[in-house]
Amino acid sequence: MPPHDQRAALVKGWNRAADGWARQQLAFDRAAAPVASRLVDLAELEPGMKVLELASGLGDTGLVAAAKVGPNGSVVLSDAAPKMLERLRDRTKGAGNIEVKELFAEGLRFDTAAVDAVLCRWGYMLLLDPHAALQETRRVLAPGGRVSLAAWTVHTDNPWTGATLQALADRGLQGDPTRPGPHMFAWADPATIVEALDGAGFFDARVEQVDMTFDFGSFDDWWDARLDLSPDFAARIAEISPEERDELTEELEREVEPWRQADGSLRFPGRTNVAVAEV
Ligand SMILES: C[S@@+](CC[C@H](N)C(=O)[O-])C[C@H]1O[C@@H](n2cnc3c(N)ncnc32)[C@H](O)[C@@H]1O
Repeated sequence: MPPHDQRAALVKGWNRAADGWARQQLAFDRAAAPVASRLVDLAELEPGMKVLELASGLGDTGLVAAAKVGPNGSVVLSDAAPKMLERLRDRTKGAGNIEVKELFAEGLRFDTAAVDAVLCRWGYMLLLDPHAALQETRRVLAPGGRVSLAAWTVHTDNPWTGATLQALADRGLQGDPTRPGPHMFAWADPATIVEALDGAGFFDARVEQVDMTFDFGSFDDWWDARLDLSPDFAARIAEISPEERDELTEELEREVEPWRQADGSLRFPGRTNVAVAEV
């Protein structure tokens, strides 16, 4: 497991982000639904199967899986951030085949070969030790079991967050999107994903891409969503002066112009890798 103080800092950030994720949940779920659905398809879930979702956040993907495995199956939705899990419990109340569990992906408190599939949407590339997490994933999967995961492609494919990153990086408000991980674009290259899966002992790793669309009613809605969804970004913005913030938003207003619609709303494309591999 990564050192305790690093894990604690990470959990603190995600705990702070839980209310924001809850505010954005409907819109994010709508935009990202094709990815949840593809991850569940790639895992080849069948009624009665046991599924574990890692870094589940508010559980969009695990909920699709729960419908697929049905009342005789089970899904454990897990995350390292207790506040995220509180929100998740509100959302899953009454679902008989769902359990919510606090888990670090790098150290799973699960029996060996206990589940048929592991799902992880936009989690592994953020982890302090993705290799440990993949090894743990393989350990808890039964023979023939599958892991399916999503990891964003390059920032230029994802202007809803990525195209603006240079302005933020220039001000030291966010790291350069091409730096080494962990961060949201660290697994943009499919070869990195295949290497990570092969390195953890999985077989038949393959990667494809899924496109999606992110809609925001206005620049302000988009800005609020950035603050809500990214704990790092919100922390940096809280540190700058009102003047610096005004200067930044003016620059970003210009940068997002290519995605502005006639009614003033913003429509951004998004793209992610999705991968699957077997034990
Ligand atoms: C980008 S969000 C993705 C949430 C969700 N999977 C989705 O697609 O909507 C990343 C999630 O990973 C969780 N997380 C971060 N580090 C983790 C770790 N080491 N183990 C488990 N969860 C972790 C965070 O708390 C957060 O909920």
